[in-house]
Amino acid sequence: MFTYQNSSRYIWVDGKIISLEQANFHVMNHSLHYGNAVFEGERSYYGNVFAMEDHHKRLLRSAEILGYHIPYTIEELNKAAKDIIYVNDLTDYDDVYLRLIAWKGGISLGISAPSLPIHLSFIAMRWPTYRHQKRNPLRLGWTKWVRPPPNSFPHEAKAAGQYIISSLCREDVFKEGYDDAVMMDYRGYVAECPGANIFMIKNKVLYTPIADCFLNGITRQTVLKIASENIGLECKETVITKEDIESADEIFVTGSAVEVFPVQEISGKMFSCGKISKDIIYSYLKLVGANIIE
Ligand SMILES: Cc1ncc(COP(=O)(O)O)c(C=O)c1O
Repeated sequence: MFTYQNSSRYIWVDGKIISLEQANFHVMNHSLHYGNAVFEGERSYYGNVFAMEDHHKRLLRSAEILGYHIPYTIEELNKAAKDIIYVNDLTDYDDVYLRLIAWKGGISLGISAPSLPIHLSFIAMRWPTYRHQKRNPLRLGWTKWVRPPPNSFPHEAKAAGQYIISSLCREDVFKEGYDDAVMMDYRGYVAECPGANIFMIKNKVLYTPIADCFLNGITRQTVLKIASENIGLECKETVITKEDIESADEIFVTGSAVEVFPVQEISGKMFSCGKISKDIIYSYLKLVGANIIE
């Protein structure tokens, strides 16, 4: 199993590269208690981080949405990402994942604590994707958990707190043997997966739910662009019901961690990975610079 311990010796914390063992934090760190850390997951392909600037912009914006400011520029974040890949000797791989996380530190217990110090860390590690590990498309299961309305949670922020729902979803379906979950939103429309967006193809049209209560993934936006500009597909961001999904021809999920990966089943309903999905997957992997096994 690949873990960060066996593929990274160094971690970037608050502007310095230190050994993993030196990266220790106080248990009273504010964000540990209140879930307001913000983070990014990005992939590096042979030393090049795909959509690096977009991820770094989103990190800074996520913190601003939650009311704090990360004291680094985009250029400093870009350099930190490159440095941590380089010092860990990870430039020769196409399965490298970067986890950036910013959080409120301090050692006080107030729920509202505007003036606490802000920390930032970059971890780079080898973390093979589904592409490296799975022979077959994914088996998903519907979960009872739903994405809340936008006035209950700032969905545009990639904030640690919202992953409570994501982990509950996963645990919900893992016990039934599925690879991942699909969740509805608060209105009863299809939303997304715990860590990925979802797409369906029907009658040669590409559909994906409107990102009005969940993260508008960078991979989701890339796929919409590839599909319309490179492949010439009609693309629709619209409300999608469970019945729509169940009558789809093809389904796939998108995310920086999972890349673009086909789905063969949702709770007993079967789908094929057809030519359109294959074309989109191929175009995405080519764009990011992955090693494509033809
Ligand atoms: C809940 C959730 N939705 C969607 C995505 C896909 O986002 P992106 O493509 O920006 O990685 C992610 C991954 O970050 C996620 O955690």
